[in-house]
Amino acid sequence: MTGSHDPDLAREKLIVALDYWNIEDARKLVRDLGDEVSFYKVGLGLQLVGGNEFARELIAEGKRVFLDYKYYDIEETVQRAVAQAAELKIAFLTVHGVASIMKAAVAGRGNSDMKILGVTVLTSMDAEDIKEMGFECGVEDLVVARARRALEVGVDGVVASALEAAELRKQTNNKLMIVSPGIRPSGGARHDQKRVATPFEAMRAGADYLVLGRPIYAAENPKAAAQAIIQEMADALRPD
Ligand code: C5P
Repeated sequence: MTGSHDPDLAREKLIVALDYWNIEDARKLVRDLGDEVSFYKVGLGLQLVGGNEFARELIAEGKRVFLDYKYYDIEETVQRAVAQAAELKIAFLTVHGVASIMKAAVAGRGNSDMKILGVTVLTSMDAEDIKEMGFECGVEDLVVARARRALEVGVDGVVASALEAAELRKQTNNKLMIVSPGIRPSGGARHDQKRVATPFEAMRAGADYLVLGRPIYAAENPKAAAQAIIQEMADALRPD
């Protein structure tokens, strides 16, 4: 599908991962992308070099921030840490997909608009890893079980591959928001991502937000790369 039309809705659904290890590089990318991108993911790479202050700076500039620190701790600690993130006006926050932790996170965000995302099973983990954690089921069964539990305890969404989006939607009656990494524009490099979808495929599969890092920050012209991705997302959102 081609053609140009208003890509504003698609633009809001693109999250650019700031996978840098110093703030200066991250700040430069945000500057280069300008108004094209309004939503950024800040993760562990920036945490110890001023990530929280940088998140504050982005929010003050009118950007939305997805804080991806994947909280995993006792309930009291998770609840208070999540409450602090809510005060910072973080838009999305990840916690581990264990019911007690997710419940504490939901309590911690209180009445704020911050969305809590449960990490079901890290995509780097396989059957051996979850066996070591004490589970006797398959990886996909655990993903679905945790997604259902997330919904029960009031979590807003999960981080999941776009390739699982349709099935997860079905299993949770379309009630969980799906945020998908592992997106590669058609014809682009796959890097270390094994199970990838194009922006068009991911939107059509039912992902609500797409997270892209290298296809944008490692591009020769990040702004042009972001524009092309947004256009592809907008094409998918247009009814046939
Ligand atoms: O560079 P790339 O587009 O592969 O980056 C994807 C982002 O999504 C990275 O920040 C990565 O840590 C994150 N992520 C992922 N797979 C998951 C969860 C998060 O690639 N299952």
